Amino acid sequence: MNVAIMGYGVVGSGTAEVLQTNASTISKRLGLTLDIKYILDLRDFPGDKNEDKLTKNFDDILNDESVSIVAEVMGGCNPAFEFTKKLLCAGKSVVTSNKELVATHGAELLKTARENGVNYMFEASVGGGVPIIRPIYQCLCANEIEQFAGIINGTTNFILTKMYKEDMSLEDALKLAQKLGYAEKDPTADICGYDVQRKTCILASLCFGKHIYPDSVPTEGIQNLSLRDVKYAKANGCDIKLLGQAKRFGDKICAFVAPAFVKKDSQLTNVEDVFNGIILRGNMVGEVFFYGAGAGKLPTASAVAADIMDCARHTEKRKDFGWEDSDGSTVVSPKEMPVSYYVRGVGSVAEVKKALSQVNFISLPGAPKNEIAFTTQKQTEKELDEILDSIKDFKLETKVRVFE
Ligand code: HSE
Repeated sequence: MNVAIMGYGVVGSGTAEVLQTNASTISKRLGLTLDIKYILDLRDFPGDKNEDKLTKNFDDILNDESVSIVAEVMGGCNPAFEFTKKLLCAGKSVVTSNKELVATHGAELLKTARENGVNYMFEASVGGGVPIIRPIYQCLCANEIEQFAGIINGTTNFILTKMYKEDMSLEDALKLAQKLGYAEKDPTADICGYDVQRKTCILASLCFGKHIYPDSVPTEGIQNLSLRDVKYAKANGCDIKLLGQAKRFGDKICAFVAPAFVKKDSQLTNVEDVFNGIILRGNMVGEVFFYGAGAGKLPTASAVAADIMDCARHTEKRKDFGWEDSDGSTVVSPKEMPVSYYVRGVGSVAEVKKALSQVNFISLPGAPKNEIAFTTQKQTEKELDEILDSIKDFKLETKVRVFE
């Protein structure tokens, strides 16, 4: 069976490597051979072992009836959306690691795939090599998913781990992450949380059956976290992690991305460096935890290759999974969810005590004299903001949710 790969970057070259290195195992498992016929990329790769397969012309793939499965690992929406749509309409299955495309156009592409009797799969779009998409729609399909919380960006988790364990500043840790090749070319998507936002959209859409679009997912990254907040977390018996979260709230869905204090007894605090970890709760299974390499060439490529194999097994009868489109009316703001907060600012302890009856103050040796840090009882962000605004002698500097 002929396949094509669009994009010969890290994940694309990794996908070729997985298919070629494990060719005999893969063909034994499938009962057929997967041959890479084309690799689409505008760049030249002189001397590359797959040089003879390279093309700069998308139409070579689109118009070749012998190609039935295409891996789109180009990233971004443009031209990936147009290419994917044309391929699906031409009766080819498409697999992808492209979280931006799935988060932005997933409902439409899934519908196009359904209408054309082909598959659109995206295991590699969340968690890299960590199996999470297939377990949700396959193994956990008898459950109502109630909520999930995930560390789903390796770069920011690496940075936070360096800050937590080595007292490294955010800037230095980012430079190191870039040097080691973890961060995206433009690290804004990692640091400001957009990468986690896209992955949260995909997981939430799959868990709850309606497309959750990025603009319905309020997102904070780690850009405003200081080393001091990390130290306060530690002094409070917590770690600090960037989480993508979604939960049912009555008949609505609440999804958001933000840093959180995570108590040391949570599995999530064991997720260090570039690793990813996702805790998910189903109404029958209870809590399950997924952990592994969330980024990187071969882990991500192995998920892409597995989707290619799944498509090869489902050429006659497509796998029906996905979600419906939605107008955003099912989404509720995280500001409505009562949670405990960590708050840091400067001002008068007495005034804070007067306004907020139940707070636990956190002391940090060497902190500036008028700095105050505390965790609150559970309340909505709206309620907390109103109280904090009303305290005359208090200037808020940071506010972080406590994850439970
Ligand atoms: N930049 C992403 C990360 C790559 O650090 O997790 C994998 O999606």
